[in-house]
Amino acid sequence: MKLLYSPASPFVRKVLVFIKELGLEDKVELAKVTTTVVNQSAELAASNPVAKIPALVLDNGKGLYDSRVITAYLDSLVASPSFYPAEGDARWDVLCMEALADGLMDAAVNNRYERGLRPADKQWAEWGEGQMKKVDGALKALDAAAVSFGDRIDAGIIGAACACGYLDFRYPDIGWRENYPALGAWYAKFSERKSMQETQPPS
Ligand code: BEZ
Repeated sequence: MKLLYSPASPFVRKVLVFIKELGLEDKVELAKVTTTVVNQSAELAASNPVAKIPALVLDNGKGLYDSRVITAYLDSLVASPSFYPAEGDARWDVLCMEALADGLMDAAVNNRYERGLRPADKQWAEWGEGQMKKVDGALKALDAAAVSFGDRIDAGIIGAACACGYLDFRYPDIGWRENYPALGAWYAKFSERKSMQETQPPS
């Protein structure tokens, strides 16, 4: 399998953490792709028609996307551990937590694109503020959930960690830990895991 990736993407990081935690490193080749909305990679578009990273190219050539489909696929390749409960409330809680973390990352990435890529005279301040309001809403929900994270690891927890990591990477000055100390305390411990240390975004 080949993972089309960019090291700065929090969605890619989530997939990379899955690969490491599931012991699949030998099975996945990494292929770095440079792509933006205004300059889309043809290689990426051949595997994911909406040209978004990450995309996983299977050995039969089929492309899998987006990150949540890829993480579920990777999880299905090993009998244990599994980062998705098979059924019941626990399953929906984990899927919803992963979606929450992805929502945070979407809003944070959108705002970063607005500020970093869009020409200054075309930027829309209220739109960016709205994205950061979504980030704050997600942080609040994650902080409330974090009090019961303990040492658990599942798809939602991995997503939450990658979302916190992206904020530290691209928004080092927002001081999210001040308002969300339970999440901050949990993240301090979780980010010590080998899989998190080895997937840190580029400096
Ligand atoms: C970033 O540079 O922040 C970034 C790059 C690729 C995907 C998402 C975010």
